[in-house]
Amino acid sequence: MVLFNLLLCVLGVVLISIVSKASEALKRGSRPERSAASSFVMTLTIGLYVARALLAYQHKSLVGYHPIDVLMLDARTQHESFAKQAHLSKSLSEAVRHYQGRYNRRPPPRFDIWYQYATNRSSAVIDDFDNIQEDLLPFWAMSPADIRQDTWDILANPGNDLGGIAIRNGRAEIFSNVVPTHRWMLEGILDILNHFTEWLPDMDLVFNLNDECRVAVPFNEMQKLLSNTSGGRYASSDTGSTSVKRAGTDFSYERDQTWQKMPEEPTTSTRFLANSFNPTFADFGRIGCPPSSAARRDTFWHRTALCTSCARQHSLGQFVSNWTASADPCHQPDLANLHGFYLSPAAFHTSKDLVPVFSQSRAPGYNDIRYPSAWNYRDKSVYSPTPERPDPSFSSKNATLFWRGATSEGVSPGWPCHGSWKGMVRQRMVHLVNNDTVKRDVLLPYPLDTSPDLPSRGRRWQYHPTSASTLGDLMSTDVRFVGDIVRCGGRDCPDQEKEFGFGQAVDFQDHWRYKYLIDMDGAGFSGRFLPFLQSNSLVFKTALFREWYEGRLTAWLHFVPLDLRLHDVWSVLAYFAGVKGEVDGRSVSMEPHEKEGGHIAQSGREWVEKVMRKEDMEIYFFRLLLEWGRLTDDRRDDIGYVG
Ligand SMILES: *[C@@H]1O[C@H](CO)[C@@H](O)[C@H](O)[C@H]1NC(C)=O
Ligand SMILES: *[C@@H]1O[C@H](CO)[C@@H](O)[C@H](O)[C@H]1NC(C)=O
Ligand SMILES: *[C@@H]1O[C@H](CO)[C@@H](O)[C@H](O)[C@H]1NC(C)=O
Ligand SMILES: *[C@@H]1O[C@H](CO)[C@@H](O)[C@H](O)[C@H]1NC(C)=O
Ligand SMILES: *[C@@H]1O[C@H](CO)[C@@H](O)[C@H](O)[C@H]1NC(C)=O
Repeated sequence: MVLFNLLLCVLGVVLISIVSKASEALKRGSRPERSAASSFVMTLTIGLYVARALLAYQHKSLVGYHPIDVLMLDARTQHESFAKQAHLSKSLSEAVRHYQGRYNRRPPPRFDIWYQYATNRSSAVIDDFDNIQEDLLPFWAMSPADIRQDTWDILANPGNDLGGIAIRNGRAEIFSNVVPTHRWMLEGILDILNHFTEWLPDMDLVFNLNDECRVAVPFNEMQKLLSNTSGGRYASSDTGSTSVKRAGTDFSYERDQTWQKMPEEPTTSTRFLANSFNPTFADFGRIGCPPSSAARRDTFWHRTALCTSCARQHSLGQFVSNWTASADPCHQPDLANLHGFYLSPAAFHTSKDLVPVFSQSRAPGYNDIRYPSAWNYRDKSVYSPTPERPDPSFSSKNATLFWRGATSEGVSPGWPCHGSWKGMVRQRMVHLVNNDTVKRDVLLPYPLDTSPDLPSRGRRWQYHPTSASTLGDLMSTDVRFVGDIVRCGGRDCPDQEKEFGFGQAVDFQDHWRYKYLIDMDGAGFSGRFLPFLQSNSLVFKTALFREWYEGRLTAWLHFVPLDLRLHDVWSVLAYFAGVKGEVDGRSVSMEPHEKEGGHIAQSGREWVEKVMRKEDMEIYFFRLLLEWGRLTDDRRDDIGYVG
């Protein structure tokens, strides 16, 4: 036990140093008046909270501050440093300089037009397009001809669930071999592209028609590729050399000729391995992780036990402290049994070779190229309150945790084995809230009957095992499946019907009545997240899938993150909604953190109007395709914007 304690303390210290590194980075990129001394004090304070909070969760001992207070504080500084470095440039020449500093090469051709496009639309992000860099970097290891050949190869077989778009002479067109049911998706993409196709070079693009991501390159292969991406990191940045041909800085002429025509007869060979309705974690989900990682070493067999060691790396006590890391499968072998995408996806056709596929979202470890989905661009789920279905202010909403949805995260085929639905996030959430039978640890005031007027700063807190029926009495929830049980077979259909019953379906605009909205993945990313953020409600989000805007939003400032294990749900709700009632025969009274909840709801709403507008989707896509245009150009090491 002593040893264990010691270990935890070491962990605390490691965390302190991580936090201090983060605040150092912050200092570098932030206002000079933030003195080193105040930053040191802040670091130390946060570090101490971290160590104490960690200990408290392990031993059910007391914690002097609520971890959410600490996380919210930290989120604010994280966001400030993000926003600042994302838009340092005040002019085109500064943007060029920052581009070269960040990515070690010249900006792509027509960068000046992109810059004008972005600034014309008041983009809050000019310099930080690290997601594009991350997604495209491995492709610098392939020759332009190979990328074009792969494009042809995977589009020529219509059975691949891919759709092609051709850009020629500044116009975009959908390939004729696209299956009609999925045309809307490509039409939506055209809606976005048409704003800027006149400036794009000729090329063919491959879009994933499934929600699930498609490209999983094994770790060792990826390392090999990454070691051969010098073009992506260094080439063509030495613009001072005499050989720079200014006339030759634009895309090559006659690129049209370099893209092979589709064959008359579709091909049948495929690069994609089919594995729908089957577990995918072992053979695909974790193969991008280092061989030494927990995901590759361990198999987590205890399906019903909570793997606290899997969560520790991204948690502060029970709560998510690093949203990015919380979806990284490499330290979380238990995720194999905790998400529909890993348990039994509806559509799974995945390549282990690096092939160029543009997808709406991807699980970490996958190598799809992310682009802004037409789902939100085309208002498929839209925030649009009406006089009959208004969006009241945060404080006047119904303080209920609310969710409606379908059993569409994965498929529970019922045969040859049954019950895979029990691991899926959506099903676990509905079960946790309505049908739980075990006690859950909830962070409550200590002692339980603390006077309600004691401010939370003077409080102490303790994790308290609490039964489901008590929790149901303490907090208001309305979390239900609607419609028929879908994506099931055999006994998995009636079993789920019996377990969940049915909730009442609601109009999408009815969501705004509720103070706390849950957002969860479906078969891929959730299209509701953006409209939820635009509302006055507070959004609780848990997700494996990550989209183009990853990094722009900060957890605990713009939304409330939940762990995929969901062991934090009740504590998070207790913090924001407060609790009043009996626990273990003692009355407990904890005021809601109304101000904090309202602040996150408001910050999220305001920030998405700056960085997730339709204009921002266009700006991201435009820049992505200029980069892709260069990558697929035979003269890619020579071309680029010189200024
Ligand atoms: C930016 O706005 C100016 C002034 O309205 C306009 O002339 C120019 O064409 C715009 N450029 C782009 C790329 O949108
Ligand atoms: C590195 O990439 C280039 C194309 O950019 C290719 O010609 C070469 O064969 C690659 N080398 C290795 C070792 O993969
Ligand atoms: C969060 O985790 C990611 C890796 O998953 C890491 O790169 C990043 O530095 C972490 N952020 C903080 C603030 O610790
Ligand atoms: C709040 O919502 C819950 C769940 O839908 C409902 O049962 C309750 O009646 C609502 N309360 C008010 C005051 O409308
Ligand atoms: C689970 O909870 C829901 C909602 O309260 C209820 O309709 C359903 O019957 C419960 N399932 C079981 C098996 O008790």
